[in-house]
Amino acid sequence: MPKAAGKSRLVIDYRNATADAVGKENGISQADLDGVAQTISEAHARITKEHQDGGQRWMNLPDNTDLADEIQQFAQEARGQYHDFILVGIGGSSLGAIATVQALTHPFRNVLPDDRRDGPRFFVLDNPDPEKVSSTLDTVDLDRTLINVVTKSGQTAETMANFLVARGALIDKVGDEQAKKQIVATTDPEEGLLRKLAGQEGYRTFPVPPGVDGRQTVLSAVGLIPAAMCGIDIHQLLAGAAAMRARCQSGDVRENPAYLLAALSVLADQKYDKSMLVMMPYADALFGIGDWFRQLWAESLGKRLSTDNKDVYAGQTPIKSLGAIDQHSQIQLYTEGPNDKLISLIGVDEYRARVEIPAPPASIPDLSYLEGGELGQLLDRERKATAWALTQAKRPNLTITTPKIDAFAVGEFFYLFELQTVMAGAIYNVNPFGQPGVEAGKNATYALMGRSGYESLRDDLLTKPDDADTFVNAPGT
Ligand code: PA5
Repeated sequence: MPKAAGKSRLVIDYRNATADAVGKENGISQADLDGVAQTISEAHARITKEHQDGGQRWMNLPDNTDLADEIQQFAQEARGQYHDFILVGIGGSSLGAIATVQALTHPFRNVLPDDRRDGPRFFVLDNPDPEKVSSTLDTVDLDRTLINVVTKSGQTAETMANFLVARGALIDKVGDEQAKKQIVATTDPEEGLLRKLAGQEGYRTFPVPPGVDGRQTVLSAVGLIPAAMCGIDIHQLLAGAAAMRARCQSGDVRENPAYLLAALSVLADQKYDKSMLVMMPYADALFGIGDWFRQLWAESLGKRLSTDNKDVYAGQTPIKSLGAIDQHSQIQLYTEGPNDKLISLIGVDEYRARVEIPAPPASIPDLSYLEGGELGQLLDRERKATAWALTQAKRPNLTITTPKIDAFAVGEFFYLFELQTVMAGAIYNVNPFGQPGVEAGKNATYALMGRSGYESLRDDLLTKPDDADTFVNAPGT
């Protein structure tokens, strides 16, 4: 079990999502929760049994402290050796790491002097955007760069292309043999093209756990290596996840926070037409968690087929917002536009910095209300004000509060939202695992890029419809 066991500390306040607060046309009633309670307790029994039988393997990740020890040791050596670290990966192979590093390290760590940074600078090659990739490779010091290529399937086009480019630049700079020592691959332990290449070239490798979808791998080597390279206490991440898991043992919707969140969001969608779920942290550091959650919720629940193979077109569109910035942008829409959203605010009791607001010049007395205040207090009051304004406008909202942002809390968030998503799948009656819609696009990309085995799909894609000219407007046509 994780070394630093502790208790879950997140608080979920859903009063503003209830009928009492926002009216019976918009808010969830106790009867709604009662109505879904049996589905949830049956799904809980099924998920628990599947886990006992060796399924739901993502639930085991918080226990992998041996792997965390190994990664910590690897990172300890590498951190002294390298000035730059490039993560090459996309989707579930990068979003969790980005969220973790953003939450738990200095927001400008890449521009801090070496002795204040705690590990190498951190770069991500996710999109195969030629401008970003070439700028990254221009910026890093390749002689002192470690490349971590991460792909579960071992073949995703964007990742493999970016990797080949980064690897090529590395070989040009340091030579073939040295380059092999500066690459670490995180991939399936047995299968895939990257596994094969890693074997041929002798890269150091770490496993992506089989039976776990990419979007649930943040607490495996996929997320832990980049985190450890950036000086994050990865054991505390696992401990936080384990604490949340311990808190989520009940099959009772009112006792299990993940199931409660699942019920609130799916009921909001199915009964009250809240087809969008906004995650709005009031902390820049947690914005990446919103991005990670967006993928988790969208890819897991956006499904055409139910588990009994009927067309259901399930899902709720996840939106990420940032407080207080989006109070000056999206909130206008959330408050007065279509009442089609459940808004989940994330609050922080104690920010890691305390910044007092000095007295304004005496000539501007109207600013004196800020005097003696503190920025964290202002931000937190903005969150409360937003919750109030949304509620007044009959917009259902809830607030999840963490006492502070630390590795333990981030681990808690990851586990909480993963279990919420799995239970939401059960209420929607869809399989939250797999991503056939993503695979369709991946296959079409392989076909368009001329990969062998995809010829007939390529022919389909390149067949010009008869009316194409009618709908394409280009210069000279
Ligand atoms: O959640 C998933 O499984 C996907 O979003 C993948 O993470 C993403 O497509 C990248 O795949 P891979 O890790 O195989 O390169």
